[in-house]
Amino acid sequence: MRKPLIAGNWKMNKTVPESLEMIRALRGRLDPSSPAEVVLIPSFTALFSAAEALRGSGIHLGAQNLSHLSQGAVTGEVSGTQLKSVGCRYVLVGHSERRQLFQEDDALVHQKLKTALSEGLYPILCVGETLEQREAGQTRDIIGTQLQEGLKGLTPPEIRKVVVAYEPVWAIGTGKNAQPEQAQDIHEFIRGRLVSQFGEDTAQDNRIVYGGSVTPENSPGLLAQPDIDGALVGGASLDADLFYAIIDAVP
Ligand code: PGA
Repeated sequence: MRKPLIAGNWKMNKTVPESLEMIRALRGRLDPSSPAEVVLIPSFTALFSAAEALRGSGIHLGAQNLSHLSQGAVTGEVSGTQLKSVGCRYVLVGHSERRQLFQEDDALVHQKLKTALSEGLYPILCVGETLEQREAGQTRDIIGTQLQEGLKGLTPPEIRKVVVAYEPVWAIGTGKNAQPEQAQDIHEFIRGRLVSQFGEDTAQDNRIVYGGSVTPENSPGLLAQPDIDGALVGGASLDADLFYAIIDAVP
């Protein structure tokens, strides 16, 4: 049984007071009997205060990025151990904004994922095709390679800790979400690839979440699909009412 995961990626938004205000608003509304696991992913600057504010809430904390290196003279980077020490459980790896704006390739994404695992974090590996790649019929090839390279050589205990996020790049921040059947089709493909890489027993437990313009309106249809185990929410996670409505849509 896969527990649905709803994660809010705040990207480069919200000051510390704004982050705390959002957490207060959300804590007040969250139903403790919700079937969803909720994860907030604020900016690095708000992680420490957010962890304090989330104490006892059952909401988990995640970071948006980590260094592929463990420690030392790496100006401007943040290590997995540092993230763990402020209370992070999850970390995003290979978000398309990192791949596109910071030229993170599959090899670097793989290094980050391995570092996250060795430092005790649960990585959320983001994969997805651009519009150009979809139109050229390359969606499965692109995602297949991102999975193959990103997850290569993981041991069974390691792969069990990984969440995969399918985020079609054309759907991120555009208001054009993938249709539920279209997303299910790719989630099923991703599950199939995990099965062939790691075996049926392991892959059936991996959560595969959808991201890209998720809203309260489209989340019930998406979350009802058999291989969609939750959502990675950007824009709509910045507003407590909208984010709560998405959590509430988990069947
Ligand atoms: P969006 O972002 O919900 O604003 O499209 C999703 C993401 O980038 O994780």
